[in-house]
Amino acid sequence: MKKILIGTHNKGKYREIAYLLSKSCKKISPISLKIPSPKETSKTFSGNSILKVKFFSKFVNYPVISDDSGLCIKSLKNMPGVYSARLAKKHGNFKKAMAFILKKMKNKKKRSAVFICSLTFKYPKKKPVNVTGKIHGTIANKILGKNGFGYDSIFIPNNYNKTFGQFSKIKKMKMDHRYIAFKKLKKKIKTL
Ligand code: IMP
Repeated sequence: MKKILIGTHNKGKYREIAYLLSKSCKKISPISLKIPSPKETSKTFSGNSILKVKFFSKFVNYPVISDDSGLCIKSLKNMPGVYSARLAKKHGNFKKAMAFILKKMKNKKKRSAVFICSLTFKYPKKKPVNVTGKIHGTIANKILGKNGFGYDSIFIPNNYNKTFGQFSKIKKMKMDHRYIAFKKLKKKIKTL
């Protein structure tokens, strides 16, 4: 594969997907092509991921990869889920959204959560190929670490005692929900 559009305006996601793709493949951002983001009208990660890949594919004649991802917190009825980005927008930024979540989680003993990534790849004129990756963990008691993006600083993956925000960027990229989804996708699309 010579060229691929990474269908996201989110810099953290772009960095991670670019890192996972083959080094020899030229990665293009929709921002550099002045392509806007579509409205995320689906209530599911896969619905939004497929909707995004189809939207971005209309603008280019080479492959596109898109993800829809978010944090689902069990004791908050899987909130913010597909609304993860919108929650941060509503509160002004991720730090405020994380503070809001921590307040809601105050005194909650059950703190399990899961990061989900629905990743979709599409060749021009072909059907989208969709996979899902998940990583389970718990919600920290406070915001910890500055290395990540989004909700990284409140998510502690299972079998570790630090947040994604305290991991090095590389270490996090090699174990998270996007990485797990990408490994599944690579089994289906060998040229990635
Ligand atoms: P969307 O997929 O564009 O709807 O955005 C998903 C939201 O979840 C974004 O606001 C991300 O910052 C957040 N999110 C997705 N993946 C991660 C991650 O790996 N770490 C932290 N936050 C994430």
